[in-house]
Amino acid sequence: MVNFKDEIAKLIAEKVEGLELSEIQDMIEVPQDTKMGDYAFPCFKLAKVLRKAPPLIAKGIAEGIADAPLFEKVEQVNAYVNMFISKEEFVKDTLEEVLAKGDDFGRTDIGAGKKVIVEYSSPNIAKPFHIGHIRSTVIGNSIYKIYDALGYDVVRINHLGDYGTQFGKMICAYRHWGNKEDVIKEPIKTLLSYYTKFHVEVETHPELDDEAREIFTKLEHGEKEEVELWQWFRDESLKEFTRVYDMLGISFDSYAGESFYSDKMPRFVQELADKGLLEESQGAQIVDLEPYGLGAALVTKSDGSTLYITRDIAAAVYRKETYDFYKNIYVVASQQNLHFQQWIQIVELLGYEWARDCVHIPFGLVSLEDGTMSTREGRVVFLEDVLNKAVDKTKEIIKEKNADASEADVDEIAKAVGIGAVIFQELSNNRIKDYTFKWDKVLNFDGETGPYVQYTHARCASVLRKAGEAIVKKAAALEGVDFQYLCSESAYELAKLLYKFPAVIVDAGEKYEPSIVTRHIVDMAQGFNRFYHDEHILTDNEEEQVAKVALVIAAKDAIKNGLALLGMKAPERM
Ligand code: ARG
Repeated sequence: MVNFKDEIAKLIAEKVEGLELSEIQDMIEVPQDTKMGDYAFPCFKLAKVLRKAPPLIAKGIAEGIADAPLFEKVEQVNAYVNMFISKEEFVKDTLEEVLAKGDDFGRTDIGAGKKVIVEYSSPNIAKPFHIGHIRSTVIGNSIYKIYDALGYDVVRINHLGDYGTQFGKMICAYRHWGNKEDVIKEPIKTLLSYYTKFHVEVETHPELDDEAREIFTKLEHGEKEEVELWQWFRDESLKEFTRVYDMLGISFDSYAGESFYSDKMPRFVQELADKGLLEESQGAQIVDLEPYGLGAALVTKSDGSTLYITRDIAAAVYRKETYDFYKNIYVVASQQNLHFQQWIQIVELLGYEWARDCVHIPFGLVSLEDGTMSTREGRVVFLEDVLNKAVDKTKEIIKEKNADASEADVDEIAKAVGIGAVIFQELSNNRIKDYTFKWDKVLNFDGETGPYVQYTHARCASVLRKAGEAIVKKAAALEGVDFQYLCSESAYELAKLLYKFPAVIVDAGEKYEPSIVTRHIVDMAQGFNRFYHDEHILTDNEEEQVAKVALVIAAKDAIKNGLALLGMKAPERM
């Protein structure tokens, strides 16, 4: 894509002496108000070098570059050179870029040769994959796609919560009240009910707690029966999680969860001891992080068993040694802020100079219109149920809109749109904000929603079907296209939004903020719809039609690529 700043800098460099090209580039501004031009060059700094008044310098530059074909108009206003890019030139360059790249439009190679780990989802075995987990799953998946588009080599890790004392309780409960068939039929709901029962029973039978602790110790020591039961719970749970991942179109490169590190911990407890970082506290071992305002971190319990935080320290070092990451990203709820601050601090104290390449990306809470959820009491809303409900509700809407669509088509569209709507809603707000999940809002076809954007994509597809293959082929090749037809306000504004898309991806990556992409997709969709309403696209003038269809193809590509970054499909019909 033409980098306008580069081109402008080159033109200005020919007219002024004493400044490096890169200095000029840095000085070029993009005015807030487009009346001041698409780009502006302030001349204050030049006064010293050139020993002339800034307005005079600006005047000289403006006159010197005004004739370049790149510009429609160049003006001097006080100390500024205000430059208006030729619309024709701009639209031409933008469309050439989008159409040449197609599915790859937006991708760059900023991250080439660098490895990034994105850890996300990470649900707990034998606990429900509830609506709260969707956040990590969907935000993490989008961050993965964004980093992939930036050219990084991304490794996706699901750090399963498959270890810890709760497995002692679960096995204990299963032995007392469990039934194999029930577990096979509905693993997570059944295992959860045992876990809930354990917490009720232990109130009146405190000896259950001791039994559970003993079982966990056996599990830690690798006793066959306990390990087999644990493995079975893990397998059955994973089957259920995978069903949800398949619905969302999400996969992972590694499921190395907490249990994976169970035998890798002694090394770190030793390293901590060697560095004099460990302190005894009531039989347990802690690291004092008070000097950093982070309290105390408990790394081994009085019975010698290790904890969540110790496993995270081991995992970070393992990942560095295995993948030699450039960045190690954790998409985990903001409730765990302290946990991440603590262990990253500990890794730093251990002397690992890459500690700060581990980044915690927190996000806010999601609650449902009809109340909150709690695992202990078993009052949870399962993600799978939410997704199924979204698909069912969408089916009704699609049927109403397309009375003549076949059952199979309706099914497929409803899946893409229903699940897409949930994903889009998830990624609409800044991730750190808490939000309430509202059905009316999620499935609204006219708001700033997933269905609206997908519908806009389908509308582009429908225009192309109507234009016919011959025209689309010419347009896609930009064969003899006259870009004058694309200089109307709505066409030009749409082209500007397309031009910005690659920079939006870079920004979203730097801020780990998929909502930046989401908002830009909405802008592009609105931009297209304005163009669609303002302009007669399929006119009798073939030249004009080809030009306009080229813009439709470009808009469709950009919207589709944007949706893909969120993990959404772009249906051709709706
Ligand atoms: N399993 C945890 C939970 O659901 C999240 C794990 C986060 N990742 C980590 N490396 N600590 O709460």
